[in-house]
Amino acid sequence: MEGNVQTTAMPRIGDKAPEFKAITTQGNINFPSDYSGSWVILFSHPADFTPVCTSEFMTFATLEKKFNEANCKLVGLSVDGLYSHIAWLRTIKEKIEYKGMKNVEVTFPLIEDITMEVAHKYGMIQPGEASTKAVRAVFFIDPKGTIRAIIYYPLSLGRNFEELYRALIAMQTADAFSVATPADWQPGDDVIVPTAGSCGVAKERMENKVDMHCYDWFFCTKKLDKEKIFSTILNK
Ligand code: BEZ
Repeated sequence: MEGNVQTTAMPRIGDKAPEFKAITTQGNINFPSDYSGSWVILFSHPADFTPVCTSEFMTFATLEKKFNEANCKLVGLSVDGLYSHIAWLRTIKEKIEYKGMKNVEVTFPLIEDITMEVAHKYGMIQPGEASTKAVRAVFFIDPKGTIRAIIYYPLSLGRNFEELYRALIAMQTADAFSVATPADWQPGDDVIVPTAGSCGVAKERMENKVDMHCYDWFFCTKKLDKEKIFSTILNK
């Protein structure tokens, strides 16, 4: 503890996701064991009944099916209580129409964290931004419970959920095809093959003897069809 501010080591990429039990709008969960075998996006928002968060929940709920089809479950969290969560989600469904979205039902779990136990465990409370609210944190956790990517946004900045989907598909593509993905990659764009590990392989690549395009010996790309990606990674 530093003064009144509780500090904890923040989980990092490559760490196992910290474990916790929680009460949610969909019942109790044991995290991450209940999600073993699936990707999961654990994300926090600052407060219920606030405009940016409402726009985010409506957008994420609308895209949930797309994430689920890519073997990814969504779990939200704020430091509000369960009854606030329930009331807010009911208001969203019954009253809010936004950008063509209406009657939106949030069916993924929303964790109540009034003690801030989970928020502190995941470094979601960042006192320079707010000490009584979670920032907009996003943790991508893989089917083995390992944290694979972390993105943080300040309170004022609503997230881009298409970018979260792109990041998920890019990581799944990297795992399934042993490739990396370049800047601004979208499924169907060329992917990066692992850098040549020997002089022979570097020479072969530069002599165009392989089915790839090399900008230099250490930077080679190849085609990877969108259909091949989605037929491999999407839940059938
Ligand atoms: C919002 O979601 O609108 C919000 C929440 C906390 C602080 C600022 C904005």
